Amino acid sequence: MESPLVSQPLAASCEANHQECQWTRDMDTNDLYQLVYVSQSGDDVDALALEAIRRQAASNNLKLGITGVLLLGGGCFLQLLEGPREAIAMVYGKIAIDSRHKQPNVL
Ligand SMILES: Cc1cc2nc3c(=O)[nH]c(=O)nc-3n(C[C@H](O)[C@H](O)[C@H](O)COP(=O)(O)O)c2cc1C
Repeated sequence: MESPLVSQPLAASCEANHQECQWTRDMDTNDLYQLVYVSQSGDDVDALALEAIRRQAASNNLKLGITGVLLLGGGCFLQLLEGPREAIAMVYGKIAIDSRHKQPNVL
């Protein structure tokens, strides 16, 4: 019969392996990723410009399987993006260099 002294380390090792599997699964490109950033809106971003961004985002994001929320207040944008890892990286690459805002900071 197995002694508690032997089963204890085995249990710990199973737990460690499980965490490793979990981590590997989280790195899968098909998983959903979330990215949140804040930035300062450009001085010329009015209601019309905001509507243009919204339309552009809605159209592109739908095709890429990305959902999220975009807030503007106090001269700052806050955006949450959720979707496949590669799609999030690609879209954020474009957003980060968009001149309609500046100093994007991923939280
Ligand atoms: C605050 C802000 C948020 C934006 N969010 C998105 C977005 O969620 N998805 C997107 O495709 N473009 C977004 N854009 C626009 C992109 O910066 C870029 O102009 C656009 O993706 C280019 O699309 P295109 O390659 O189809 O021309 C955002 C721009 C700003 C300033």
